[in-house]
Amino acid sequence: MEQKRWRCTVCGYIHVGDTPPEVCPVCGVDSSFFEDVTDDTPAAEDAAPPAPKVDIPRGIKPALFKISYGLYIVTSVNGDKINGQCANTVFQITSEPATVAIGINKSNYTHELIQASGLVGISILGQQGHDLVRNFGYRSGREADKFAGISYHTGGSGVPILENCVAFLEGKVAQQMDCGTHTLFLLDVLAGDLVSDSEPMTYAYFRATK
Ligand SMILES: Cc1cc2nc3c(=O)[nH]c(=O)nc-3n(C[C@H](O)[C@H](O)[C@H](O)COP(=O)(O)O)c2cc1C
Repeated sequence: MEQKRWRCTVCGYIHVGDTPPEVCPVCGVDSSFFEDVTDDTPAAEDAAPPAPKVDIPRGIKPALFKISYGLYIVTSVNGDKINGQCANTVFQITSEPATVAIGINKSNYTHELIQASGLVGISILGQQGHDLVRNFGYRSGREADKFAGISYHTGGSGVPILENCVAFLEGKVAQQMDCGTHTLFLLDVLAGDLVSDSEPMTYAYFRATK
């Protein structure tokens, strides 16, 4: 019997089997992030004449899993629309001038707003931010108003900034790179400030305490 294909909605990893894996070996999210794509029309690259399969050495995925991350609410705006999503892929690239990079799944509503306006807010979560991860990371702003009941203010560039964060940045897209399932946006940092002196939340801390 043909096995099912499961796609990680965070990083795009494809798992073949009767059930999704407990943990994504690439980005570490749990099985609830996997969607059944068995019946999906194969992506253009899948439908192309068979190319030699790259056999990823088994060690790469567990090694990737050891990269440390923080957790952030990445927001954007377009006209009267605002949205935000949880992200771990936020990296400082340079400090003078300040630039950061973010990796955002192309299917996310936040991606749509970022591409439309070029504006991004980054709220750096503290160690009490579990509910914010759940609110912004497990459903799309296309189906729910994720800012309902959330305290935030509008930053100088127009993006939402959460009140409950340890620090924030505002940025404008300077460059972007197509990375398959994701877009890597390089942001010029326009503004930023500390909000509290609490410890920031790491992905490892979230996983250990969720
Ligand atoms: C812990 C955690 C980390 C995540 N990291 C990312 C990330 O780095 N990039 C990304 O595109 N999605 C990431 N996601 C998934 C998005 O937050 C999720 O798909 C969200 O529902 C997208 O919402 P939107 O459609 O409203 O933009 C993460 C989710 C969680 C829970």
